[in-house]
Amino acid sequence: MWMESFVDYFVINGGKRLRGTVEVSGAKNAALPILAATLLCEGEVVLHGMPDLADVRTMERLLNNLGATNTREPGGTVRVKVEDEMNCHADYDLVRQMRASICVLGPLLAKRRQARVSLPGGCAIGDRPVNLHVQGLMGLGGDAELVSGDIVMKAKALTGTELFLGGPFGSTVTGTANILMAATLAKGRTVIESAACEPEVTDLANFLNACGAQITGHGSPRITIDGVEQLHGCEYTIIPDRIEAGSFLMAGAITNGEVRLRNCRLEHLLAVVDRLRHIGVSVERDGDEVVVASARRLEPVEVTSQPYPGFPTDLQAQIMTLLCLADGNSIITEKIYPDRFMHVAELGRLGAKLRKEGPTVIVEGVKRLVGAQVMASDLRASAALVLAGLIAKGETRINRVYHIDRGYEKFERKLMALGAEIERRTESSTDD
Ligand code: EPZ
Repeated sequence: MWMESFVDYFVINGGKRLRGTVEVSGAKNAALPILAATLLCEGEVVLHGMPDLADVRTMERLLNNLGATNTREPGGTVRVKVEDEMNCHADYDLVRQMRASICVLGPLLAKRRQARVSLPGGCAIGDRPVNLHVQGLMGLGGDAELVSGDIVMKAKALTGTELFLGGPFGSTVTGTANILMAATLAKGRTVIESAACEPEVTDLANFLNACGAQITGHGSPRITIDGVEQLHGCEYTIIPDRIEAGSFLMAGAITNGEVRLRNCRLEHLLAVVDRLRHIGVSVERDGDEVVVASARRLEPVEVTSQPYPGFPTDLQAQIMTLLCLADGNSIITEKIYPDRFMHVAELGRLGAKLRKEGPTVIVEGVKRLVGAQVMASDLRASAALVLAGLIAKGETRINRVYHIDRGYEKFERKLMALGAEIERRTESSTDD
């Protein structure tokens, strides 16, 4: 049967200065592990500030497959309750759509003593191994084997232990989440050394403690978990999305506008604010809002992505776009995903002068970017192309914007409300 599929794309007319106020949504990378953690809970969980994103919907579908019901109420509230613990298999179809599905591994092993999760494939930003996740869960007493592309794990019981979670690129965010979740129901004390310190991991730990877990040290590289018999449900509000907030700071800066962010935790963005201020962008608190404005002239800087609290890899593409217009050469080094440069060739199509040398890109400032057709690849590179389109002369068309829908809630509508000339169009894929 011949099926017609439709593909969305953005058309942007560049040059409009952004002005006005934008509301930052709940953090995708907190929402996803916290949704997975509901598999540990007896009773209903009520989550507020849940962003309405493709990835969150995918995780909700995965939870449904694993025996949980969930209902979404207006205003970003999601209710989740586990009704049936029979199915422990997160199948390939859902996992290949979203790597964060790996976050159900720890909860399933801890609560149901078995788990089968398809090994997530690679993606546009590079190789995405999960060896540290499996190693950590085996340290707690899990047995693991690879069965036709699935990680199959079993455990008679989980016992607390000391675990080192550091890898060649620092710690692992979802790996820390997986071990943290599993350890809440393990017998005795678990200490995670070289744990990820990202605010989303801290948010997960705070959620688990609200469900009766006993976790201390979260937000630092050493997290201690004293296992408990069971976790109950709770009502919890997700932290704001610091990557969405950082993207809007850069949108305000690149268009020489003045944008006010509501629901923005500036303390989660100190490395980003440090770089922006060195570039010549002003970022200030004003009451419970954050205001960004930029001088016309942008200074070149050096940026290196690091684990939190360093500069986030998820904003590397966006700051590269901003630095394309700086007055001189900037140097951007990617220390988390050395291949995370799919946006370089696309920015080049808009007139950017970029030279990749291994995990480093030299950004030679240019006077202007010029609109063209470009292709979105990964979630954050796509946001960087939108930023470029906002300032490029003339029309920019960005194909495959489903990448953006995975991690930015109502992105084009929020930008439109700030004065951007951007619209979403749909074409049938047969028009190629
Ligand atoms: C999380 O991915 C985020 N995703 C990513 O955001 C983010 O880019 C990344 O952390 C780094 O900050 C979610 O939280 C859902 P890692 P994660 O495990 O947990 C290596 C976005 O755009 N590593 O911290 O998968 C790995 O190769 C996404 O929202 C191992 O070697 O990242 C990488 O180089 C993109 N072995 C580094 O560690 C492992 O077992 C950090 O990866 C796990 C990771």
